[in-house]
Parts: sequence; C-alpha cells; structure tokens
Amino acid sequence: MKRVAILISGGGSNMVRLVEDMIGDHPARPVLVLANNPSAGGLAKAAAMGIATAVVDHRDFKGDREGFEKALISAIDPFEPDILALAGFMRILTPVFVGHYAERMINIHPSLLPKYRGLHTHARALEAGDDEAGCTVHEVTAELDDGPILGQARVPVKAGDTPDTLSARVLVQEHKLYPMALRRFASGDKSPILLG
Ligand code: GAR
Repeated sequence: MKRVAILISGGGSNMVRLVEDMIGDHPARPVLVLANNPSAGGLAKAAAMGIATAVVDHRDFKGDREGFEKALISAIDPFEPDILALAGFMRILTPVFVGHYAERMINIHPSLLPKYRGLHTHARALEAGDDEAGCTVHEVTAELDDGPILGQARVPVKAGDTPDTLSARVLVQEHKLYPMALRRFASGDKSPILLG
C-alpha cells in the first residue's frame, strides 16, 4: 500500500476528493495533510477525516526558501510517504525540494498545460478568447507547472463566463480527474487520462 502526503494552502476540496477515493481496493492511503498556512480550511476537514495534519508556515521563513523547504521535509519525512500530492499548494518549490521527492510528486493545475503556467489561469484563458479550458495533473519537475502529463480534463468556455464561473466549471472536473490520476499513478501506471 502506497503512503500519500497531501500538501494544501486553502480550502482543500481536491484533497477531500483524493482522501474519499483512497478506500477499499485503492493502492494508496493518506498519511498526512500539510498546509503552509495555519488558516487553510482543509486542515479541519482532514482532521475530521482522521488524518494527521501539520502546518509549516512559510511566513516564519521570510526570504529563506531553503529553510522553509528543510522544515517541510522535516515535517513530511517522518510519515514516510511514497507519493506527495500537491492539491492547491501555492508555494513555488526549488529544485532541492523537488529533487528530494523526485518521481514521487504530482500536482493539479487549473489549465490545459502547457498553456498558462503560474497564476490567474482562468482570466488568462478568457482574455485569450479560448473556447475551451480545463485542468492538468502532472508529475512535478524543477520547472514550474511542467513535467510529464498524467491526465487532462477539458471544459467548454461559455458566453458570459467570468474567471469565477469558469473556475467553478473546471473545479468539477478537477474533482474527477485528480482521484483517477492518483489511483493510476499509485498503481505504477503513468499513461495519461483524457476527460471531456
Ligand atoms: C484548485 O483549482 C487547483 O487546481 C489550484 O488551486 C485550487 C485549489 O482548490 N491550484 C493551483 O492553482 C496550483 N498552481 P482546493 O483547495 O479547493 O483544492
């Protein structure tokens, strides 16, 4: 059975979906939910589901990214994770951290990568006049929002969409795609999933 640590920064709706899926014949189990923000709403949800939680507040490491990442590693490694799943974890990670968890770390990003790495993905898709948007699950490499794609889900952009309405439509697909992709990754299968 693979052991999964999930890293969050906010409400953790993707984290909840991953945890809900990790039962029965699933090849993995959640062992830790860690946030970089003590007020992340997902922490209470994880605790309510009986999962160990931890906080490493990046604001305690002003300008010291290496110190922050060392503290993250110290908080995570006692749980001996086989897989790290980033689920709305909004900190940029250096090659040191990424290298420590090489080939064990996956992420969900709210765009059809390689389009729109970084922030404000839905606003950028709307500004560009795109007729579709979506989300991507990928392996994490040292490059931001890069790495082999494990799955993508597409949604239509509709007339009158705002970043909020588009984000809500994409999030519904995130909640389907990420559990499927984690399940497949944990079973050693890296073939990409395409939805929509
Ligand atoms: C999700 O939409 C996720 O794709 C995005 O943050 C949101 C977290 O929501 N991640 C990124 O933008 C990463 N760069 P959640 O906390 O409800 O899962």
